[in-house]
Amino acid sequence: MKALEGVRILDMTHVQSGPTCTQLLAWFGADVLKVERPGVGDATRGQLRDVPDADSLYFTMLNHNKRSITLNTKDEKGKEVFTRLIKTCDVMVENFAPGALDRMGFSWERIQEINPRMIYASVKGFGPGPYSECKVYENVAQCAGGSASTTGFLDGPPLVTGAQIGDSGTGLHLALGIVTALYQREHSGRGQRVLASMQDGVLNLCRVKLRDQQRLAHGPLKEYSQFGEGIPFADATPRAGNDSGGGQPGRILKCKGWETDANAYTYFITQAAVWEKICDVIGHPEWKEDPDFATPPARLPRLNEVFGAIEQWTMTKTKYEVMEICNPLDIPVGPILSMQELSEEPSLRETGTIVEVDHPTRGKYLTVGNPVKLSDSPSEVSRSPLLGEHTGEILQEVLGYSAEEVSDLRDAGAVGREDCGST
Ligand code: COA
Repeated sequence: MKALEGVRILDMTHVQSGPTCTQLLAWFGADVLKVERPGVGDATRGQLRDVPDADSLYFTMLNHNKRSITLNTKDEKGKEVFTRLIKTCDVMVENFAPGALDRMGFSWERIQEINPRMIYASVKGFGPGPYSECKVYENVAQCAGGSASTTGFLDGPPLVTGAQIGDSGTGLHLALGIVTALYQREHSGRGQRVLASMQDGVLNLCRVKLRDQQRLAHGPLKEYSQFGEGIPFADATPRAGNDSGGGQPGRILKCKGWETDANAYTYFITQAAVWEKICDVIGHPEWKEDPDFATPPARLPRLNEVFGAIEQWTMTKTKYEVMEICNPLDIPVGPILSMQELSEEPSLRETGTIVEVDHPTRGKYLTVGNPVKLSDSPSEVSRSPLLGEHTGEILQEVLGYSAEEVSDLRDAGAVGREDCGST
């Protein structure tokens, strides 16, 4: 048994945010039926292609463990099939531009009429308000959700981050909303509407920056490097470079080989509890007693000097040696690991976080497996479906259509012919 076995998801998602959500649900055991436009499919199938005529990694890495049905939901016969899917499924997930499902004739009210137990979950760029009609992509969400204004260095422009907090982050939020609504349905017997907006999701992840915004009213943010550098604070939470977001000062420091290796760096936190050990390790034992360095408040105006001295030491070690020396002493450090290093890390392979998958048209590739591990519901990663691969199977096995009816639907263009070998 998988945790979500028996839950059927009508997956109307595309691109990244929605597919991240339904992929997670599939890993937990839900039967995810991905509905795609005949002959076209999810646009990401063809985006950033590395292998000609094969589904892109963008698509394959976001759509594991799903089945694909091609269905024209704007066609009258296609709408009949879609209605039967709504009746049969527990959850519908979509991340179209605002109003797309209403324009197809499937408003929330109509969906409730068809299936009152249906949980209807959406990702949108913004919640209700002035921007609710906007189409939104990852970096727009990072900017509108407060991440960009607080990322980067004080003297540089706002920066977006490589972590897809707008898309994948919101997909995660939505997945939590869906399982919560499934749990409530156990008691209420009713479905409900679940909305995760990308702006809200990013802002949620930037919670500590709103914390700092309010702290600013009571004085400078002393743990920020700019305090020690004597640079006055303006009205909004500033960009803080690589300063740690908590009360313990931290920075990214060069390690041995930094001149040629772009990732020969370590994160280093000068946690107060282990300050004396840090002093010993970096060869400044005198700082343990020196009133200018002995206490956290004394160090705050001298962080450049402190981290400069620590960096003199880290530059004599590789990032892994820094980890080996500091970890037993409980000094919090972390190597800057590249995608190449992560993809080759044996422990991540062993836990199923990095998985090799075989695909019929593109061959073997690496992906990130389920980052959430359930002891009673382990996730196995299976390849993403080809466009419309399961159209006939879903129509017959899930919806109960006869082979003749399936053939009629194909002839009428309501469903695609991809699984018959022609589009
Ligand atoms: N059969 C028939 N038509 C279909 C279909 C199907 N199976 N599946 C989708 N369509 C139609 C939709 O009904 C819509 O038509 P309409 O514009 O006539 O209403 C159209 O295909 C595509 O919808 P849209 O969502 O507008 O695609 P887009 O490529 O223009 O925009 C986004 C992409 C991501 C910007 C937009 O979907 C969006 O803002 N989504 C919400 C936020 C989001 O998730 N953003 C992050 C994506 S990672």
